[in-house]
Amino acid sequence: DESDGETEEYLFKVVIIGDSAVGKSNLLSRYARNEFNPHSKATIGVEFQTQSMDIDGKDVKAQIWDTAGQERFRAVTSAYYRGAFGALLVYDISRRSTFDNVGRWLTELNTHSDTTIAKMLVGNKCDLNNIREVPVEEGKALAEAEGMFFMETSALDSTNVKTAFEIIIKEIY
Ligand code: GTP
Ligand code: MG
Repeated sequence: DESDGETEEYLFKVVIIGDSAVGKSNLLSRYARNEFNPHSKATIGVEFQTQSMDIDGKDVKAQIWDTAGQERFRAVTSAYYRGAFGALLVYDISRRSTFDNVGRWLTELNTHSDTTIAKMLVGNKCDLNNIREVPVEEGKALAEAEGMFFMETSALDSTNVKTAFEIIIKEIY
């Protein structure tokens, strides 16, 4: 109730990282606006969206940051990670190279973020199961070894997108 002046608000920063074209921007647009763009352009710099959710009657807002996977389009790295409570590290299940690079992203994340940050490894494009290059078990095993949550998602058909963001936001809260 806004009128009694006792509304408790929580704002948490969540960052999305991973190689170019794994679907970071589409995961965010699917979650925040229920939109998918089959012809999306590579992100330049940083974009963010604020999304509210109700947890135990509290208004919890996540400010979700999305940046370029391409090095040449990325903004100042330390600023991107500053103050983040959660991170989604995304690869594309149909492109092995994006999974092979997870270690690099993890190193960057661990270098720039607090040790208590909640992390989820996200295997996106699970709708492309017929051309899959990374088995589910491999994703799961890596996530477990690195202390991350794990989920396969599809920004295209919406599979697990809401769940992935909400697990991270609930974990932070
Ligand atoms: P950068 O901004 O360059 O880092 O890329 P990005 O990770 O933000 O990727 P983006 O969301 O722009 O998506 C890249 C391409 O993959 C686009 O053509 C999307 O339509 C497509 N794409 C994204 N998510 C999915 C998905 O879940 N399934 C399928 N089949 N295609 C997807
Ligand atoms: Mg993008």
